[in-house]
Amino acid sequence: MRALLFAANWKMNVGPAEARRYLATFLTAYPPQPNRQVWFFPPAVSVEAVATAIGNRTDLRAGVQDVYWEPKGAFTGATSSPLAAEAGAKAALIGHSERRHVFGETDEQTGKKLKAVVAAGLHPILCVGETLTQRDAGETLTVVRRQLHAALGDRVEVLVTVAYEPVWAIGTGRNATPRDAAEVHRAIRAWLKERQAKETRVLYGGSVNVKNAVELLAEQELDGVLVGGASLDPQVWIELVRTAVT
Ligand code: PGA
Repeated sequence: MRALLFAANWKMNVGPAEARRYLATFLTAYPPQPNRQVWFFPPAVSVEAVATAIGNRTDLRAGVQDVYWEPKGAFTGATSSPLAAEAGAKAALIGHSERRHVFGETDEQTGKKLKAVVAAGLHPILCVGETLTQRDAGETLTVVRRQLHAALGDRVEVLVTVAYEPVWAIGTGRNATPRDAAEVHRAIRAWLKERQAKETRVLYGGSVNVKNAVELLAEQELDGVLVGGASLDPQVWIELVRTAVT
């Protein structure tokens, strides 16, 4: 049975009180499943609530959605990797498309963030993906490889998970087909292998829901999914993380 990772990106939703209620529901309904990890990325203010609720369940993890690269100091409004780790985070999203496109984060900045996350002992999930204009221009793989290189360099010595999230599929209800995703996943895996990566875990993200998860996860190139909208309701998420996979 292949190992799968289900990652919930709550974006700017779910405060600490709601997070505690959500996890109480989730923990009761979802005992550990073999070869299945479920990671939660709440807003920074709710990381501690999620991490505390998770306790010592090793199949579950809390993570942060973004960090600033400096470890501490006069950076009003920012969260650093060590601070997130202290709150109980064990992972971090890096370079999510909303960071890149809403907040103007550059490739260079994702590189600095990735290093900072690894230095603090958090596991990075590096998000990459092309816009619709780039896809239509046939630039998907060029863009994805450029984003990988900017964040990881010429040799991949760190343990990293990559999430392929085509920008046109995020929050739009329009998911990539399993074939579209598989083609890019293969290219990402090849890129990582060429640079001596020890592991090549590649998730798909973008309008994943309980309906399309079955078909997407049947594609062997997918090692899991990164899910926004369909992770906000605990009942829906419980159904999604239970998706039967062949
Ligand atoms: P979505 O978001 O599932 O709502 O499309 C995915 C993501 O942004 O990680």
